[in-house]
Amino acid sequence: MDAVFQRCISPACAATSSVDDTRFECPNCGGLMDVAYDWNHLKPPKSLREFEAKWADRANPLSFSGVWRFRELLPFAPPEKVLTIGEGQTILQCADAVADYVGLQPGYLFLQYEGMNPSGSFKDNGMTGAFTHARLIGARRAACASTGNTSASLAVFCSATNLMKAIVFIGSGKISYGKLAQALDHGALTVQIAGDFDDAMQRVQQVAARLGIYLVNSVNPFRLEGQKTIMFRVLEALRWEVPDWIVVPGGNLGNVSAFGKAFIELSDLGLIPRVPRIAVINAAGANTFYQLYERQGLRWNKGYPDRAKIDTFFKTMDAEQQRASTIASAIEINRPVNLTKALRALERCDGVVREATDQDILDAKARVGAGGFGCEPASAASVAGARKLRREGVIAPGERVVCILTGHQLKDPTATVAYHSTDQKTFDEVLGQRGVRRAAFANRAVQVPNDLDEIIKAIEVYS
Ligand code: F0G
Repeated sequence: MDAVFQRCISPACAATSSVDDTRFECPNCGGLMDVAYDWNHLKPPKSLREFEAKWADRANPLSFSGVWRFRELLPFAPPEKVLTIGEGQTILQCADAVADYVGLQPGYLFLQYEGMNPSGSFKDNGMTGAFTHARLIGARRAACASTGNTSASLAVFCSATNLMKAIVFIGSGKISYGKLAQALDHGALTVQIAGDFDDAMQRVQQVAARLGIYLVNSVNPFRLEGQKTIMFRVLEALRWEVPDWIVVPGGNLGNVSAFGKAFIELSDLGLIPRVPRIAVINAAGANTFYQLYERQGLRWNKGYPDRAKIDTFFKTMDAEQQRASTIASAIEINRPVNLTKALRALERCDGVVREATDQDILDAKARVGAGGFGCEPASAASVAGARKLRREGVIAPGERVVCILTGHQLKDPTATVAYHSTDQKTFDEVLGQRGVRRAAFANRAVQVPNDLDEIIKAIEVYS
């Protein structure tokens, strides 16, 4: 057998396919696939410290990339096939002001700023993986359904590399302007479906299969290989110490699945002494994972999750015509495609799931902005969720917590400006209909006449 292959995540099935298969579903049972490695025939590092040597090798684009400097832990492509645009130059910030808001001791809350990627979100970590795989198999067109960030990332990678034509499927009126602007500006064929993300996701899978277009949504396991490196960088920034908690927003559940795989592999390779706990935070208006995991007790169950429970949940959702709805448009998703993979991740990492209201998300976002570099609404769900878990006593004040900030602040200025607005009409139009009643942390612009004395007076009063 080859040292690198694809394998069904269900241990009962465990069907395999070759590395160049682009169906991204199990040929036997239709389930999700992993990129699998026979480590006996590869050269995994003996210690994570070995990666520090890459810092002195930054002239090599593979060592410069925050993804590919860990290439020995995602060795599915020969180095000359790797396609990188310099993704993964992100930072882990110790954020004491936010720690105070969350209820943690100073020095215990860290924010991982994935908005610093070339397209402004964590998606670039995965896209470089998918593009490398697409190059391996010679794809000419790539497609995704998106709430905005995957499409932005795909569009950037296509325009920067000229390797493939980007085709993006988006729901009508469901995508923030910052992200739509990226898809359009970078030349992607943008297909606006009369429906939401869940509709677009189903359609893109059908279209990709019918037309043989390479799919870059997170059902693509090569994308998740790239996203594993977010965790490697977190460990690297903590000098290879494992934190107590990773808190991540949950939409299609690709990130949590990738993080789980990263820790399972590091642990199995003996590279870390223990795994962190993982918390996934849904928006309350798109809370399928919370409902199934916390309310209905759905578990990985050694690879046999209760299918009937899942089917009944979605049947009821359809019968009641429930649609995802949240200000955190990036995670406005009711049918997460990586549901079972995420269950596996939570099993190994003693996971929990919580939901955060739009009010909590926007308040947390304002605290993040006031305490550091800023993020888009979906990202702040992680901070809102950490605060909730701290209040419940699930997280202790002296535990080390890493919240993943998945997307840049400027991705969705509409929500931010409305939150800080002095104009009640703007606030109500954008936020009021979503149940957001107050902006406790608003930083309102000061209105002054165009008069030097008045301006100086205002500055003296407010500063
Ligand atoms: N945060 C941001 C900023 C996102 O864009 C997404 C997903 C998530 C969190 C959720 O991550 O799907 O791995 O659980 N955005 C996708 C998109 C769905 O199309 O851009 P997940």
